[in-house]
Parts: sequence; C-alpha cells; structure tokens
Amino acid sequence: MSSARTTTRQVPGPVRAADAGWWRQAVVYQIYPRSFADSDGNGLGDLRGIISRIPYLAALGIDAVWLSPFYPSALADGGYDVDDYRDVDPRLGTLADFDELTARLHAEKIKVIVDIVPNHTSSRHAWFREALAAPKGSPARNRYIFRDGLGPDGGRPPSDWASVFGGPAWTRVPDGQWYLHLFAAEQPDLNWDNREVRDEFARTLRFWSDRGADGFRVDVAHGLAKNLAEPLGPLPGLNHLDGTLPPGSHPLWDRDEVHEIYAEWRRVFNEYDPPRAAVAEAWVHPSRRPRYASPDGLGQAFNFDLLDANWNAGELLRVITDSLADAQRQGSSTTWVLSNHDVVRHATRYGLPPEDGRVGARNWLLTGGASPRLDRGLGLRRARAAILLMLALPGSAYLYQGEELGLHEVPDIPEDLVQDPVFSRSRGAEKGRDGCRVPLPWAVGGPSFGFGPGTAHLPQPAWFGPLSVEAQERDPASTLSLYRDALRWRRELQAAENMEWLPRTNGRVLHFTRPGGWRCLTNFGPAPVPLPAGDVILTSVPVEGDDLPADTTAWLISG
Ligand code: GLC
Repeated sequence: MSSARTTTRQVPGPVRAADAGWWRQAVVYQIYPRSFADSDGNGLGDLRGIISRIPYLAALGIDAVWLSPFYPSALADGGYDVDDYRDVDPRLGTLADFDELTARLHAEKIKVIVDIVPNHTSSRHAWFREALAAPKGSPARNRYIFRDGLGPDGGRPPSDWASVFGGPAWTRVPDGQWYLHLFAAEQPDLNWDNREVRDEFARTLRFWSDRGADGFRVDVAHGLAKNLAEPLGPLPGLNHLDGTLPPGSHPLWDRDEVHEIYAEWRRVFNEYDPPRAAVAEAWVHPSRRPRYASPDGLGQAFNFDLLDANWNAGELLRVITDSLADAQRQGSSTTWVLSNHDVVRHATRYGLPPEDGRVGARNWLLTGGASPRLDRGLGLRRARAAILLMLALPGSAYLYQGEELGLHEVPDIPEDLVQDPVFSRSRGAEKGRDGCRVPLPWAVGGPSFGFGPGTAHLPQPAWFGPLSVEAQERDPASTLSLYRDALRWRRELQAAENMEWLPRTNGRVLHFTRPGGWRCLTNFGPAPVPLPAGDVILTSVPVEGDDLPADTTAWLISG
C-alpha cells in the first residue's frame, strides 16, 4: 500500500521456501473444498475447482495448502464425518483429480496438507455398518466404543456425558447397546486401544504420503486416548480447559497416552524423504501443547491463543511472548492462526464489542447479525493490522480462505438452510459455523459470484460482490493486494526464527524486530504514534505523514 512514508522499493518477486523444515515458517492457506470453487455447477466446491484456481494460489504467494476433508461423506459435519479415508467424494472428484491437483500445486512449489480425522469415522463408514450388524462384544464393535446402558433395561445412557455439539454423547442402537460420539451421532468415536484401528490409520497416512501429500492436519488430536475404565463417572463437563480438572487429567481429552499414538505416526512420517509434516488440532492448555509439537510426535501444534485474544496490545504481547518461549522449549516453531472454518471470521470478531470481556460473536450470530452492532470498517481495519502483525512473527502462519478478501462472517443464513449440526444439536442455542463457510466470491456478479456455474450450497449475501476477487484484484488498496504484498515481502525478509521487542512496546504499541532489520509496529490506539526511523515498506491502511494512526501496522526496514 503506498503512503507518504512508503519507499518506492519494488515489492520483491517470488522466492520459495527451502525444502528442509519447509513447514517451520510456512504460510499455509486452508481450503474448505466444498466452499472454494465449484467446477461442475452442483453447488459444492470440488477438486477441479481448486485446480482452476491454482494461478490465484500461486499469485497469493503461499507455501502450502491445507485441504479440509474432501472424502466421501454425508456432510453431517461438513465432511468431518468420513465414510472412506482413502477416497474422494464423487461430488468433489476422483483420486485422479487429487493426483493432478497435487502435481500441479507441486509444480508451483506449493505443498499439500491433507486433513486426517482419527477421533471418529462417519456412521456410514464400512466399519461402523459392520459394527451395527455384528453382535455385542464382537471384534467389529470393539473398533468403536460400545457399552451397555444403565437401569434395569439398559435404557439410560452409560454416562451423563454431553457431546461437544450439544445433546448426549451416547446413542442407542437397535439391540440396546450405546455407542460414544463426542461430536454428532453420525460421528462414532473410534477405539484407539484397538491395534486394528492404529494399523488402519498408518495405512491411510502412507496412502496419502505415497500420493504426494506433504503433511497432515490432525483433527481433534487431543481426543484419541480415553480412560473408559468402569464405572464411567459423571463429568463436570466436556470442557477440559475450564480449570475444574488439572490439565491432563480429564478422562476424554489430552491424555498422556495419546502421545504413544503420535510416536507411531512419526515413525511412518519418517519413512519419507523429506519426512511428512503434521500439525495437531489440539485444544489444550498451553503447558500441554509442546508434546503434540515435539519432533518425536506430530512436530507442530496449532496455537489458538492469538485467535482467542482480544485486540489489545497487552494481551497480544503476552500471547506472543509465551508462544515463542513454548516453541523454543518444544523444538518446534510456533503456529499463528486468526481464522479457520470453526470460528467467526476475525474481521467480524474485531468489529464487535467483547462478550463478557472476551472476544466473541455468539449473541451477534444468534440475532442474525442485528445486535450488537458490527462496526464493519473497524473490524476490517483491525483485521488488516492484525495480519501484518501476525505475518511478521517468527513461525508458520495459517490463513483461512476468504480472509485475504477481508470477508466478514455471514450471520443471517436462514434457519432452514443452516448445515452445521451444532445448530440442531444445541436446539438453536448456538448458530454454528456456517457463516465462515459460505462459498467464496470470485466475481462481482453471476449466480454464485463466480463460485461456479450454478448457485452455491450456502446462500451468499449481496455484499460479497464488491469483495470478490475480481473486484479486488486490480485495486492496489484492496485487502487482497495487501495480502499479496505482505506475502511477497515476507518471503524476501524471512530470517531466523527469532524476534526482539523494541523499546516503543508499551500498553498501546507493539514494536519488534526480526533478524536482518525487518521491523513491525502496531498501534492499538486510540491516538497516532510517531513512526520510527527507517523505510516504511508496507502499511495496513494508507498512512500520510510521520504518524501511525490507531489500529494500524507498519512494516519497516532499516534505511
Ligand atoms: C474439528 C474440526 C471441526 C469438526 C470437529 C469434529 O474441531 O475442525 O470442524 O467439527 O473437529 O470432527
């Protein structure tokens, strides 16, 4: 973005990250395939749609794509209910399309990360159908978690546990037994004490690695090992992070035994050259994250602390300092995330008043976006400042499709079109996650703003048109242009994984430097602050004069 203080230096041309340890500071772009691009007009995005947009991904300047599930699925949970781990949903394409996609991305030096969902299969998976057909106590049932119910006729669930999505965590089958599902009833939990389950997943990891996948994102990585010793006692709740139980002692989450599984996975990853990378989706206490990210385990773990933090210099200072210290201890690199397919888009979070002191949008979603009032401009301004701050930090950066367009959450999806099982399972107490999964706008108009030749599987709002790729591509002041410029500069300036806070850092300003003289200054407001000496190479909004306005980030290099 040009400004009075911006030098005339050209944004650098593309330079690609080296292969060894490529993931350590990679920029990974998450694609939610069903909402990215639809090549055949059936309303669902597909692999050929992604192939058609590879030039876009290359121009963005990312190092890797993470593909959310594209497997055959009834979509009871947006594809995280997997029918077959070694195939492609026919509505999304074929294995040959996956191979072509991978080869074409590799030709652009973009790595491919596949989403693996080991905590549960779908209820349509061959194993679960076999389990239902098999008798109580059979090996087929022992791949899952079946138990008898309580009460004289076993009519009460084996425990009072609630599922993460609301409603009970147990569902009864026709012969009277119950099975455990920590998420939707269509997502029966696997029994990871069963060797067959472990061997089957090793096969799946090799299947995708052999086809060229460079890494894996591991869904609900903290859920696999469970202590199901009888009696299954009452639980204070499924939230293991509320401080009721000491970290690591909840029977269902984040148990030490889970790391035996990942040690086995690591051995599989290390059969390949370069070793396959992995990142854990582990919602755990920060003190427990290092084991997931250990080089003997998955290697990297999502750090959601940035995403959870308010837009506030003090909070972010603490999160950044602690995260970098943790990463150093664990021998991994930090991951930074502001948005993904499970949370309200960050432009929206930053444009709403905090709920109970925390960043949140629950009430806003429940009112269809009516209340409290969303300050769209402020949210976007902060989102742009936040991404420059995040992209200047050491470690890897995970971006979620559409954030590069500055998209806000879509709050007003009509109830009869809501897809997220959270909505029905919570009986409408939660609106769910569809608002960040609305198909992307590629064009200013058309039946689905260029998403595909037909309409989109979730309704797109009219305000998507002006935010489309087509509208932003040629506008140097657009959010898309900001991301492209930032990613190009980042490639040029990226250096060793450290940073140092600079003196101006205080309650309102974060100022740090990276090796080689790359500096980042964010002003959280409310008043402008003087820009330090040096060449301003990029600012999150146009800056006139020598002051950095509120809610703005500048990148500088030593003059
Ligand atoms: C993970 C996914 C989420 C899914 C859940 C159950 O948290 O990110 O989308 O609903 O797992 O698979």
